[in-house]
Amino acid sequence: MDKKIDGKKLLSEAKEARKNGYAPFSSFTVGAALLTKDGKIYRGCNIESSVMSPSLCAERVALAKAISEGEKEFTAIAIAGAPSGEDPKDPCYPCGVCRQVLSEHADLNTFQIITEENGKPVSCTLSDLLPKAFIFQT
Ligand code: THU
Repeated sequence: MDKKIDGKKLLSEAKEARKNGYAPFSSFTVGAALLTKDGKIYRGCNIESSVMSPSLCAERVALAKAISEGEKEFTAIAIAGAPSGEDPKDPCYPCGVCRQVLSEHADLNTFQIITEENGKPVSCTLSDLLPKAFIFQT
């Protein structure tokens, strides 16, 4: 993990964000904390909808908040997810849709995905999770 990235701090921000998760349908709440190159942190939580398809993952909520505030460069995201009312014990990696969306706003080889396993931060790069990513060319 990049020395400048404090994985524990970012994970604690993700856990704070998770407290606001709105998941009446899955009862699985997720929090994310997205780190900008300048050290700012944007939090997001999952927000479900009764008609399902508008449901939002925590990662994309954090990303939308950051991008809509003019942020352009990101170095890491921490994610914490578990059944509502329980503390996370298993790692929570981003879903396929979030991997794709993150790949359009981050450097595949350096952007860190941080989650927690057995109480300890674990990390990998976005290219580990999304090899041979689709690259849009005109
Ligand atoms: N979820 C996230 O917020 N992020 C992910 O990467 C995986 C899944 C949410 C979506 C849904 O509200 C709940 O977790 C169960 O799938």
